[in-house]
Amino acid sequence: MGSETINVGVIGTGAIGGIHAENLMRRTIGAKVVALMDIDRERAEAVAAACDGARVSHEVSDLIADPDVDAVLVASTDASHAEITIACIEAGKPVLCEKPLATTVADAERVLRAELATGRRLAQVGFMREYDQAHKDLYDLLRGGAIGAALKIRSLHVNPRFVRELTIDSVITNSLIHDIHSARWIMPSEVESAYVQWVPADQARPRSARLADIQLVFADGAIGSLEYNGDSGYGYEVKVEVTGETGLISTADHPSPALRHSGSVTRAITPNWPQRFAQAYIDEAQDWINAIQGNEATGPSAWDGYMSLVVADASIRSANTGRPERIVASEKPPLY
Ligand SMILES: NC(=O)c1ccc[n+]([C@@H]2O[C@H](COP(=O)([O-])OP(=O)(O)OC[C@H]3O[C@@H](n4cnc5c(N)ncnc54)[C@H](O)[C@@H]3O)[C@@H](O)[C@H]2O)c1
Repeated sequence: MGSETINVGVIGTGAIGGIHAENLMRRTIGAKVVALMDIDRERAEAVAAACDGARVSHEVSDLIADPDVDAVLVASTDASHAEITIACIEAGKPVLCEKPLATTVADAERVLRAELATGRRLAQVGFMREYDQAHKDLYDLLRGGAIGAALKIRSLHVNPRFVRELTIDSVITNSLIHDIHSARWIMPSEVESAYVQWVPADQARPRSARLADIQLVFADGAIGSLEYNGDSGYGYEVKVEVTGETGLISTADHPSPALRHSGSVTRAITPNWPQRFAQAYIDEAQDWINAIQGNEATGPSAWDGYMSLVVADASIRSANTGRPERIVASEKPPLY
């Protein structure tokens, strides 16, 4: 495609769609948002107003078929991702789909089949922690051999406020899916089994999940523990730690100044995900645009989207059986 400007269409212009549109317009080199679509037209119009002349499409299919649109960013709600991503792939357009790639393993398999039929990687999944400096530093140290073989990964993912409606199923598919992907990306071998424990928000609703923990076993014998807390009481945070044969690596804390006052030192914690991962979303968008210009897909793939859902599915089965559940996945195609 060369180094010409990539014209992007954005589907879903809510919280993250608005951030992506702004990043593509103002903080990414070589990209322009030319079309937006949301089932709530007013939302699309509000974001379009800040995108210098971008038009609002009536339907998902209009935006994807628009000859001016080179690539599509999908930031609509989870249940719509698979269908829209398949339509983009079938139209031959590169697509950055927010996580999760689908809400079921069967739908993720349909995305894989559509992409395999084209013979090239067109889909990227929005696992933006791969672009976060703290995560990249940990990854580079581990893969560079700084602590020998990885024995255990621990992660902590905390949200500031509890959404009472959340069930263990939705916490796994929508939130812990990030931590599942990070564990698969950081650790050198694939997940073999998953076991879930959780603390309900109240005893009358046993499927509600205030705090959840997924314990993993990897094919090389390493283990993992991924903790999600829906109500930290202090802010938003994501931390990862890996214990290796000869040492331990922890992700750096998000930088903020130390305030010494009235006999104590305090340091602010990011209040929410848009602030914590602001730079990662920009770097993700830039990498996606560079990859499109270079005709070479690089970021988290549809296979990663599929495998994270396979592990999420085993975790949900474990929540039902109360036992560790084995990962049952297709063989990885050579495309990935
Ligand atoms: N990578 C990340 O860190 C991250 C962060 C937040 C959200 N997300 C993901 O991004 C997606 C959007 O999340 P959000 O927080 O912006 O939600 P949101 O509710 O703020 O926005 C979603 C938007 O999609 C629109 N929409 C729903 N179905 C649609 C369809 N079929 N076609 C077009 N538009 C449709 C809604 O009207 C809404 O404006 C979710 O899948 C979420 O899991 C990822």
